[in-house]
Amino acid sequence: MSDFEVIIYEKLDGVGHVTLNRPYALNAYNLKMRDELYQVLGAIKDDPEVKVVIFQGAGDRAFCAGADLTEFLTAPSPVIARQVRWERDVWGLFLSITKPLIAAVHGYVLGSGLEIALCCDIRLASEDAQFGLPEAGLGIIPAAGGSQTLPRMIGGAKALEMILTGRWIKAEEAHRLKLVNQVVSRRDLLPAAERLASKIKSYSPAALACAKQAIIRGLDLSLDQGLEVEAKLGELILSSR
Ligand code: COA
Repeated sequence: MSDFEVIIYEKLDGVGHVTLNRPYALNAYNLKMRDELYQVLGAIKDDPEVKVVIFQGAGDRAFCAGADLTEFLTAPSPVIARQVRWERDVWGLFLSITKPLIAAVHGYVLGSGLEIALCCDIRLASEDAQFGLPEAGLGIIPAAGGSQTLPRMIGGAKALEMILTGRWIKAEEAHRLKLVNQVVSRRDLLPAAERLASKIKSYSPAALACAKQAIIRGLDLSLDQGLEVEAKLGELILSSR
């Protein structure tokens, strides 16, 4: 699958590699990228050969600098309506994928760029990464799940601060806040993600899918309800062996 304009999608030995590929615009997320990401996510979801996925940004400067502001500022309302529709679908699709997703981010990780990373399960950042949700300053709110995924990751107080003040944070603080799992040098970013992917892909896909579901669904449940979900998924795994 390589006929895309603004995304590169490759499958290498069980690992899907998704690269946001508009480096001249700091990989800003435009409608084309949204359409292509939707197709790629569908392919990832349905392809048993893909065991784990790594998301990254092309070029030296950014994972993704957020929504494409040229489209944001000029789009007539029907296009905005379509944009919103696509957003919902893309983010719903993202969160429905039960395979492990790794974000390997560098440089600017802003707006929908951060929201893409938040849809992943493990986030690795290079030392130069900067994170922010600038939407409020543009008169909008994060619309790709960020108002829900960020507080689940770093807690309400810090999420409110980042979203309400638009403050950007650097990799070290992101690590301290548990927004990212690990900070590595720029040079080691992809190798570190590949090492993780290599370990993960050696495990049973069914076990990984159930473990991911148990944790993510459990975050929105009481402990009792979460334990029920865990028991059901545990039984499912045992009965499928
Ligand atoms: N949408 C469209 N184009 C973008 C973009 C975005 N979100 N972010 C950067 N670009 C483009 C710039 O227009 C510029 O294009 P040009 O070379 O054709 O002029 C190119 O990417 C490089 O960006 P530039 O602004 O020159 O780099 P910088 O180092 O001076 O600043 C940022 C980097 C990230 C601070 C700045 O680009 C920025 O603030 N971007 C917008 C971030 C944002 O608000 N995103 C929306 C979130 S909802």
